Amino acid sequence: MVKHGVGLMRVDPVGPLKGELTLPGDKSITHRAIILASLADGITEISGALRSHDCRDTAKAFRAMGVAIDELNDERLQIRGGGLHGLKEPTDVLDLGNSGTTMRLLAGVLAAQPFFSVLTGDQYLRARPMARVVLPLKSMGATILGRDAGNLPPLAIKGTRLKAIDYVSPVASAQIKSAILLAGLLTEGETTVTEPSLSRDHTERMFDAVGIPIHRHGLHLRVDGVKTIPAFEIVIPGDFSAAAFFLVAALVIPGSDLTLREVGINPTRTGLLEALQSMGAVIEVSRRRIVSGEPVADLHVRSQTLHGTEVAGALIPRMVDEIPVFAVAAALATGTTIIRDAAELRVKEVDRLTAIAKELHRFGVEIEHCPDGLIIHGRSALSGCHCDSWGDHRMAMTLAVAGLTAEGSTTISDPSCVSSSFPDFWTRLNAVMPGAAVPLEG
Ligand code: S3P
Repeated sequence: MVKHGVGLMRVDPVGPLKGELTLPGDKSITHRAIILASLADGITEISGALRSHDCRDTAKAFRAMGVAIDELNDERLQIRGGGLHGLKEPTDVLDLGNSGTTMRLLAGVLAAQPFFSVLTGDQYLRARPMARVVLPLKSMGATILGRDAGNLPPLAIKGTRLKAIDYVSPVASAQIKSAILLAGLLTEGETTVTEPSLSRDHTERMFDAVGIPIHRHGLHLRVDGVKTIPAFEIVIPGDFSAAAFFLVAALVIPGSDLTLREVGINPTRTGLLEALQSMGAVIEVSRRRIVSGEPVADLHVRSQTLHGTEVAGALIPRMVDEIPVFAVAAALATGTTIIRDAAELRVKEVDRLTAIAKELHRFGVEIEHCPDGLIIHGRSALSGCHCDSWGDHRMAMTLAVAGLTAEGSTTISDPSCVSSSFPDFWTRLNAVMPGAAVPLEG
């Protein structure tokens, strides 16, 4: 049962998207930078950090374990790490809000700490499966208890000196991979993780950038326990997942011409670009460069006609967070689009396959719902409607894109849930499309 937050946002199709936009810092990379900096020796500076609820929850958890984290200005954080064994037992439950990444990565760190901790979160996070990290961490020797035989939060963790394992993950998930890699750093000997296809590799890249040895062989990764992590400086690129909403909106709204600056284009994240290209889209990528070990570029997009396509297999983990907004592109393409192998969407902040199918149906889209995907029949126009964000940030922003293209006004419930990953989404939308989003009472 989805519990509703308050408020409504009205979205109107006020015309093309024009101009330039920079995006907030990447959420996945910001989490990892805060975690590694908190475990490092000395003062780390993070520029371009995302200041969203999820990332603040990661910082709050480390503050509760004695780490000094200062916000120097809007997007610079300074973290005084106390070393790999410098964390203190939190005296209260750690409330991680809506952030699945925080809970899973932190479980990997806390499993190796010589103290007791309890991790909880909001109603959505408390319904998300944790066995995927709890089981491998238990096989490393940690004691972890939770509801539903350890699968559901709150998780109570009694950390200990872990033993190294070789873990073959059944799911291509960067959260699982990263939890084990972090636990492996804190464990003597060689820990290995193998995944079925490549998920986002920000942890591996950050280990490289910071000087932590990590060995890759195809889908197989190995870390050795380390004695220290040196403090570092890092610049966080713009979040491709945030860019995705504007990218799709500009593609489908006639007359649009938009440049997105300084966007992270790590290939393990940009499956959406390939999916859109397979629909006939041309997206210009320019000013390519590497920033703190991550590829960054400007993206330029104009409105175009799209045709249906099929996405499946190893492409899915590379666009896992973009599938909701991709469904809007599919709804406005000619012909049918098939999404397969995407059952992971059922265990995101909400069951996103069900949420997409239900909400796009309200816009008049003919959409079939399969156990691991969706079949979307494109149409020439959407109809404005009242729709539900399900309290899920990516659903709210996806529905905004649908509303921008629809005939008539659309209202979206609980619009403030965007703050998990993109707190000023509505403001930035109005900057490139004046009058597009208007908050309503109620
Ligand atoms: C994330 C990994 C992805 C993604 C999530 C962030 C990360 O989850 O959906 O938004 O930062 O590691 P999975 O790795 O579980 O697919």
